[in-house]
Amino acid sequence: MLKSAYPKLDRNEPCWCGSGRKYKQCHMNFDDKIRSYEMRGIEVPRRRLIKSPADIEGIKRSAEINIAVLDAVAKEIHIGMTTEEIDRMVYELTTDAGAIPAPLDYEGFPKSVCTSVNSEVCHGIPSPDVVLKDGDIINVDASTIYKGYFSDSSRMFMLGNVDEETQRLVRVAKECMEVGIANTKPWKRLGDMGHAVHQHALDNGYSVVRQIGGHGCGLEFHEDPWVSYVSMPGSGMLMVPGMVFTIEPMVNMGRDAIYEDADNGWTIYTEDGKPSAQWEVEVLVTEDGCEILSY
Ligand code: MF3
Ligand code: CO
Repeated sequence: MLKSAYPKLDRNEPCWCGSGRKYKQCHMNFDDKIRSYEMRGIEVPRRRLIKSPADIEGIKRSAEINIAVLDAVAKEIHIGMTTEEIDRMVYELTTDAGAIPAPLDYEGFPKSVCTSVNSEVCHGIPSPDVVLKDGDIINVDASTIYKGYFSDSSRMFMLGNVDEETQRLVRVAKECMEVGIANTKPWKRLGDMGHAVHQHALDNGYSVVRQIGGHGCGLEFHEDPWVSYVSMPGSGMLMVPGMVFTIEPMVNMGRDAIYEDADNGWTIYTEDGKPSAQWEVEVLVTEDGCEILSY
């Protein structure tokens, strides 16, 4: 017999989730339910991925800062601005709020935010040499650590006169994220959510990046599960209330193939040089769907 990730506690013991309530009044029924899926061979999250009420509060406070930073970028971004200036803004606003930009020094990443322009898919490095020009699209991906809690979200911005097909890409990428949100429901599989996202991109003639996806987030920058948006229906981890992860499909106008910048080891580009767009939210799985924590 395999060992359950949800071993039984005594009914009157304090719940493992840290709520302070008795097990029988807290996660006892939840554990019975999750074990019934586990028994059928379905991948279930480990307990560490189920956030306590205190953790959720902490992640929300972190997300408030992340949202405010992106709101400020939205107000300020303009043609002629450099991505270095965006980085400065993010650094100043985040640290002024008593928080830390999560990308800074993350595995050697040199800046406080990712700025990915046009055919850059993600992990673009802010630079004084990258000047935003008329017709550009850019993803600004901000992540915050506040009192040990992580938040992560990104938005697209369009500069001046963006051609119509590229505007459509940005819009469809946002819809793909929304399809992900609509399909994030407790006791459903992640693979079904990812498949729905992929289908929406395909229906619009676009492709979705296969090698990079979303991730659990909250106590660490990147936690399990890894979230694919090109997944098979009926596959992947079971979504259960209390899980927190990102929905962040990268949608390419052309083919899904990508490559990494050989010089900086970070920036990802589309292989065919066509534009890519991405919107990212961080969500909490609830009893009846999900709640957006950061956007
Ligand atoms: N925000 C990115 C993500 O969604 C972070 C990439 S790591 C960095 O996972 F170092 F490039 F910031
Ligand atoms: Co992310």
